[in-house]
Amino acid sequence: MAAFAHSLSLISFFLMARMLAGTTAAKVASPRTIYYRPSAWEKAYATFYGDETAQETMGGACGYGNLFNNGYGTDTAALSTALFNNGYACGQCFQIRCVQSKHCYSGFTTITATNICPPNWSQDSNNGGWCNPPRLHFDMSKPAFMRIAWWKAGIVPVQYRRVPCVRKGGLRFSFQGNGYWLLVYVMNVGGGGDIASMSVKGSKTGWISMSHNWGASYQAFATLGGQSLSFRVTSYTTKQTIIASNVAPADWRVGLTYKTNVNFH
Ligand SMILES: *[C@@H]1O[C@H](CO)[C@@H](O)[C@H](O)[C@H]1NC(C)=O
Repeated sequence: MAAFAHSLSLISFFLMARMLAGTTAAKVASPRTIYYRPSAWEKAYATFYGDETAQETMGGACGYGNLFNNGYGTDTAALSTALFNNGYACGQCFQIRCVQSKHCYSGFTTITATNICPPNWSQDSNNGGWCNPPRLHFDMSKPAFMRIAWWKAGIVPVQYRRVPCVRKGGLRFSFQGNGYWLLVYVMNVGGGGDIASMSVKGSKTGWISMSHNWGASYQAFATLGGQSLSFRVTSYTTKQTIIASNVAPADWRVGLTYKTNVNFH
């Protein structure tokens, strides 16, 4: 009897060991992280706007608001229409280096797209209307521009390439709207830095797809008050989808920003 009990416990030991091994294997086999890789260098031009304080760069068209509070700092640029891509370029990261000008400094700087440089058709595209389509143009913050060229140059030819955005921590969701309309700004996006689409799920609803509002904001016309909220976010560039569960508690409020521990790479 004792021997029988012993062999039973041996069997259960092996079963346990197999289950544990299975668990470990499942973790290894979980969806692979997709890493965004830098693009090839392309040609464009760059100017700057605002002064050394970069105050003028706050509150840009992407809707990031105060760039210091939201982690972007002064290393930002407004993109011409051709690069802005209706706001889908918001949050993308670019390395920019000055080329073919005696005013160039060596090395490059890395900026985040936070704004649009709108066309001005009363200016010639080759004389002041630098952001008119189809021109590829970066209107950089002055501190960022001053790292690649002598600022008095005004405009310089550049080379640029997309690079992965390196962010500390996870996606951040900033809430606006009202009881029937939830407008969410997605910030601190790593990897490709951009968002193609997103959905929201209340604790009492299924997934509700959100529509692109402007810049980096997405909206749902739904009554979601009193429910904890989760988001499903798809990268514009890599197409990877990640789920941020229970981002906001049931007593969430507009005007607040909720941090998560998931991000793109
Ligand atoms: C467009 O260019 C004209 C001519 O230089 C200038 O007067 C005007 O302020 C510009 N408009 C905008 C919106 O910048």
